[in-house]
Amino acid sequence: MPSESPSSFTALPTAVQWSHQIVGPRLRAGDWVVDATAGNGHDSLFLAQRVLPGGRVFTFDLQAQAIEKTRENLASHLTIQQLAEVSLHHAGHERMAELLPAEARGRLRTVMFNFGYLPGGDKKVITQEATSLAAVRIALEWLAEDGIMTVVLYPGHEGGREEASSVECLITALPSMEFEAQRIGFLNFRSSTPFCIAVRRRAVNA
Ligand SMILES: C[S@@+](CC[C@H](N)C(=O)[O-])C[C@H]1O[C@@H](n2cnc3c(N)ncnc32)[C@H](O)[C@@H]1O
Repeated sequence: MPSESPSSFTALPTAVQWSHQIVGPRLRAGDWVVDATAGNGHDSLFLAQRVLPGGRVFTFDLQAQAIEKTRENLASHLTIQQLAEVSLHHAGHERMAELLPAEARGRLRTVMFNFGYLPGGDKKVITQEATSLAAVRIALEWLAEDGIMTVVLYPGHEGGREEASSVECLITALPSMEFEAQRIGFLNFRSSTPFCIAVRRRAVNA
């Protein structure tokens, strides 16, 4: 007889859970962070709860509906003072460099990407390989030393396999003196199963 009941069993983390597990323990109140794909605002809330008060959360999404959902999600969990430290941008993440304050360059402790489409929204509005690559390049440039970028990729979505493989190629080519990168995903599931990439900008003297 097994000694534990099935209710105490725990599955391995999904790609999104991995991204939270990697980022969560590294964040402190006062940090500046980006949620590059707001969606329903779960990642923005996760970030806000760790860096506020005192920090800044910058959130991007192409869709007005996603920005509205995120605003509602944040408003139901944060104080008015905390909300004032969140900037919601109804804009593509490829415009990050233009829309973030100049002081954010080299100061971002985390940039989180969760590609694909808005759950519960229009599945045709989906992240695109070219803009995803542009945004990942900006995020890498703007990361603080010891900062982390996470990317959740969905090879099963339309165009998702090409997007995932281009992002993976870009990251594989990063110089290992400057960055360390990992790919985390299930080995024995279908190849369309989402996976997570995490990149850390190495500290200059470490
Ligand atoms: C999987 S959802 C994100 C889930 C979200 N992080 C959450 O916690 O609920 C992907 C989102 O990316 C958005 N998106 C698509 N292209 C984008 C772009 N170029 N810039 C920013 N967001 C984009 C979609 O509108 C969608 O809301």
